[in-house]
Amino acid sequence: MLKDRCPILQFNDLGDERGKLVVIEGEQSIPFAIKRVFYIYGSDDTVVRGQHANRESEFVLINVAGKSKVRITNGTEELIVELNKPMMGVYIPRMIWKDMYDFSADSVLLVLASTHYDGKEYIRDYEEYLKEMKS
Ligand code: TYD
Repeated sequence: MLKDRCPILQFNDLGDERGKLVVIEGEQSIPFAIKRVFYIYGSDDTVVRGQHANRESEFVLINVAGKSKVRITNGTEELIVELNKPMMGVYIPRMIWKDMYDFSADSVLLVLASTHYDGKEYIRDYEEYLKEMKS
């Protein structure tokens, strides 16, 4: 099942009266060692980002502010996750197609990745992705 392969992760809130504190440790709260961090902001509800699958990279997506949605598919099943809490994330393993959309104006989408960036490991053509998934 896709939802078992792409679990929602809940992170511990170590906050107190001074404010919130969320800690994510590689290979502990998420299933991989973190090699790269990037974040997406300034998107809105008119854009769709992502639209690719990765042969090598695993990701965790977290809206540390605002909200967005991610549509995840393996070519057969589809899952839509609303990311709307700094304490929740979704794990996306290799070879899963993803689209991020419906960004709120204040959305800051943090992405943790298991690899350094390599544009060659991206599949950006959905037909090509489906072909690879069927072979
Ligand atoms: P893109 O993959 O289109 O972003 P997203 O899938 O998150 O919508 O990336 C936009 C540009 O940034 C593209 O030219 C590749 C570059 N990029 C890097 O150089 N390093 C990275 O880690 C990422 C995610 C993108």
